[in-house]
Amino acid sequence: MNLTNASQEQLQNLEQTLAAEFSTIKAKNLSLDLTRGKPSAEQVSLSDSLDGILKGNYTSKSGIDVRNYGGLEGIPEARELGASILGVPASNVLAGGNSSLTLMHQVMTVAHIFGLNGPESAWNKQSSVKFLCPVPGYDRHFSVCEHLGIEMVTVPMTSTGPDMDKVEEMLKADSSIKGMWCVPKYSNPTGVIYSDETVERIAQLGKIAGDGFRVMWDNAYAIHDLTDNPVQLANIFEACAKAGTEDSVIQFASTSKITHAGSGVAFVAASDANLAGFKKSLGFITIGPDKVNQLRHVNFFAEEGSLNAHMKKHAEIIKPRFASVLKHLEEAFGDNDLGAWESAEGGYFISFDTRPGLAQEVVDMADEAGVKLTPAGATFPYGNDPQDSNIRIAPTVPTVEQVDEAMQVFVLCVKLASVRQALKNA
Ligand SMILES: Cc1ncc(COP(=O)(O)O)c(C=O)c1O
Repeated sequence: MNLTNASQEQLQNLEQTLAAEFSTIKAKNLSLDLTRGKPSAEQVSLSDSLDGILKGNYTSKSGIDVRNYGGLEGIPEARELGASILGVPASNVLAGGNSSLTLMHQVMTVAHIFGLNGPESAWNKQSSVKFLCPVPGYDRHFSVCEHLGIEMVTVPMTSTGPDMDKVEEMLKADSSIKGMWCVPKYSNPTGVIYSDETVERIAQLGKIAGDGFRVMWDNAYAIHDLTDNPVQLANIFEACAKAGTEDSVIQFASTSKITHAGSGVAFVAASDANLAGFKKSLGFITIGPDKVNQLRHVNFFAEEGSLNAHMKKHAEIIKPRFASVLKHLEEAFGDNDLGAWESAEGGYFISFDTRPGLAQEVVDMADEAGVKLTPAGATFPYGNDPQDSNIRIAPTVPTVEQVDEAMQVFVLCVKLASVRQALKNA
């Protein structure tokens, strides 16, 4: 379907055909949902043996009675688990409760209000505090900034990560920029893996930026590969150590999309100084994390053989869903300019760009036809996609058949909205 050279008459005919198809689909009263970026019931079931795994043995190998208070940094074995996911020494990892988002919010709050390196380092000592947000990005990162009153400044994502020329330029021009959000592997939502050059340039940012600059390196999809030979993400911890900027990056991960999403273990990895600064404040919030659950996770992965073996089971469930989305997109838009997407090889999302000005309309039309899509604009700070073109597709929860059906509706809505726009502009 190529609209660029279509005559008015051809467009009108096409509109009528597509509108008739849309009416037929509407009459089916579908109820499908492509919004939920969470594991399916089948996926969480892979980890049900967590339940009861301790069999009454509450002492970790390191000799800790995990039932009791204490151990702010988490048990050593759980810190090692986080270290293996993030590629850092275990001594630089803190293993916490079930949510990395909580850890991110806490680190941001400490950095903003209390200071990670003493009270004078608090960002809010300055009149203006800004954060760089690669877009499209993860809405909950943006909500953290909004909650803390930190102004967000966008920078475009490219196929190799954030546009680093722009990032460097902005940092040189504005010392009130205190950090940047990054999802370096299978980025939410674009699925992009940051290139080696991008990682290297991010490691150098601490030299360009003003004092207190922190990259929030949210490696939520560090091991969520869908292929056997995934692209390796360069190690930011080592790159920063080499550049002498180890304080400028704070890393996060969790087992949320590895075991049980609501009761996993989350990790923060940081330089000695950052970790010490964070722990000082964390000690006012908690006496220690859920170490029983940490030990359950350590034992669970020991039984699974390896993290990798376990993640392959997830991949087998997710792969056909991704394949269905990509097949529909390729068939409908592979030979035209009605949409653009990255062919993600891991993570949880596929990000789709309509022609400018159509995302909201497509989301509304799909809703009318019984297919829920993530609200247009959700992938941008303040819910504002200036091009009104980005839509995040999350195919993990529905069955393969449901994904297939929902994608038929999706591509139809994109086509119909595009034809109507072309008619308007003709
Ligand atoms: C990029 C990213 N970070 C963090 C999270 C949430 O992580 P957690 O469950 O550990 O709080 C998500 C969930 O979708 C995510 O996509």
